[in-house]
Amino acid sequence: MGESHTRPRGSTRPATSVAHNARVWNHRIGGKDTYEVGRQAGDRVASIIPVIRDIARADREFLGRAVTCPAGERGVRQFLDVGPDYVEADAHDSDAILERAPGTLDFDRPVAVMTPGTLTFVLDTEVGGEDRISAMEFWNENAAPPITARGAEDVFVLLEGLNPVEPGPVSCSQGHARAGSAPVVPQYGVVAVKP
Ligand SMILES: C[S@@+](CC[C@H](N)C(=O)[O-])C[C@H]1O[C@@H](n2cnc3c(N)ncnc32)[C@H](O)[C@@H]1O
Repeated sequence: MGESHTRPRGSTRPATSVAHNARVWNHRIGGKDTYEVGRQAGDRVASIIPVIRDIARADREFLGRAVTCPAGERGVRQFLDVGPDYVEADAHDSDAILERAPGTLDFDRPVAVMTPGTLTFVLDTEVGGEDRISAMEFWNENAAPPITARGAEDVFVLLEGLNPVEPGPVSCSQGHARAGSAPVVPQYGVVAVKP
């Protein structure tokens, strides 16, 4: 287990004394790999924005779509997951990711790059309703790494130069086969192809 697994990024405090997103997320989706400090922070966030529980469900469903679309419909066999449950790479440092990736990936073949539930940790904007700002403030004062939030326009800018696959950027709860009457959640998901 590497250093980044045991301590929140940029922190010298032990993982058990500060809530870290990866562990809080594990708690959110019913996992066992959690600490008390993370469970408390996660429950507090859920008390400020209860919709976070629906977001977690929708995120998992969308993750399935994000894998089956390139794998099943387009025959992609290689996946670069930036931001899995344990951080192996910093999404802010694409150069480092690209330097290490050729060790396991063949760049002459198609690669699906995934950032599920992770872009919120790439800081550059601050938008959202009052409750979401409160939840964000609580998180940023009590847990790690800090988060930001993006509105639709900020998300769509990330898609410049890419061709979104149907249905395009939508609430995560609406972007998969079982969407049906699932409640719309304030988290976007999109699968896009580099032309
Ligand atoms: C909401 S969880 C989602 C986990 C998983 N990708 C999923 O969809 O189930 C967010 C993940 O982003 C990771 N993360 C946070 N900051 C990151 C960064 N700067 N670079 C890469 N991953 C990061 C966290 O460790 C955490 O696992």
